Amino acid sequence: MLSIDPTIRTWMNDAPGYLPPIAIGDVVRSSGAGVVVESQSPRYEVGDVVTGFTNWQEWVLADADHRFTVIPKGLGLDLATVMNVLGATGVTAYFGLLDVGGLVPGDVVLVSGAAGATGSVVGQVARARGAKQVVGIAGGPAKCTEVVEDYGFDACLDYREPHLARRLHEACPEGIDLFFDNVGGEVLDAGLSNIALHGRIVLCGAISQYNAMERPPGIANTAMLIGRRGRMQGFIILDYASRFPEAQRELAAMVANGTLKHHEHLVHGLEQAPDALNLLFTGGNHGKTLVVVDETVQLD
Ligand SMILES: NC(=O)c1ccc[n+]([C@@H]2O[C@H](COP(=O)([O-])OP(=O)(O)OC[C@H]3O[C@@H](n4cnc5c(N)ncnc54)[C@H](OP(=O)(O)O)[C@@H]3O)[C@@H](O)[C@H]2O)c1
Repeated sequence: MLSIDPTIRTWMNDAPGYLPPIAIGDVVRSSGAGVVVESQSPRYEVGDVVTGFTNWQEWVLADADHRFTVIPKGLGLDLATVMNVLGATGVTAYFGLLDVGGLVPGDVVLVSGAAGATGSVVGQVARARGAKQVVGIAGGPAKCTEVVEDYGFDACLDYREPHLARRLHEACPEGIDLFFDNVGGEVLDAGLSNIALHGRIVLCGAISQYNAMERPPGIANTAMLIGRRGRMQGFIILDYASRFPEAQRELAAMVANGTLKHHEHLVHGLEQAPDALNLLFTGGNHGKTLVVVDETVQLD
């Protein structure tokens, strides 16, 4: 099963990034999960289900430079749920909100990309950790309804409608203490213009910019950070790898006690992977996008 992540698109640019670009002719880099069919290593037993960089292919070789993590048996969760909530997007939500954003009880929290894999978890963890108000931003009325009814946000604003900054002010008149931004561009600017005193902006993603063919226009409202004594910080989840179990324990407990709702958007067939990636940019996905390569792989 492949995890379809917006960052795959950024790896396709021939430009410096946090990982080298995917070269012409290379297999597309991607995280995923698979079952061990043969092993000459004590790390893996035949039948183990493992996660790591599988790439867009049916078979992958593990070695000392390319290791996988064995998913523990008996989690009581299906593989798609593990790939979603306990996978990269779940832990990104967790550490981005708590560690980078420094959520404190009573915060007014704004989340863009709120109906997506990362954003939906951010809002629910914020609620569980005592946020005063959790507001989402998503594309279109159906997604906004999902954000409120399925994921329990207090409100959700449609960024495709005009005057987002003004509507944000109406929704959060005291300002936004913590803005978890997955989108960048105009959405980031609208959030910046409503930041509260000592507000924090977590730069998790900038999906509105990944397909830009021209140089995107600048962000207009950074001066708000001066008057409001705010800060804005980016992060890459790979830096938190040694702490993933900490997040996974809490997220798994939230799934078990029903406080963390999740949706997986399953696309069947390896050959569908490019279309699945494009769904992230049209907003055609509902929840975590996964490509099922082999229907028989299951967790015990
Ligand atoms: N920093 C890190 O380490 C890290 C790790 C994981 C993910 N991320 C970032 O987190 C963000 C979300 O990733 P995800 O995997 O959870 O994907 P996702 O939110 O499940 O799917 C992407 C969503 O982005 C929205 N979108 C697409 N184009 C947009 C645009 N032009 N303007 C506004 N919204 C747009 C769409 O939602 P609507 O239908 O609402 O438009 C789409 O459903 C991405 O920016 C990704 O790069 C960062």
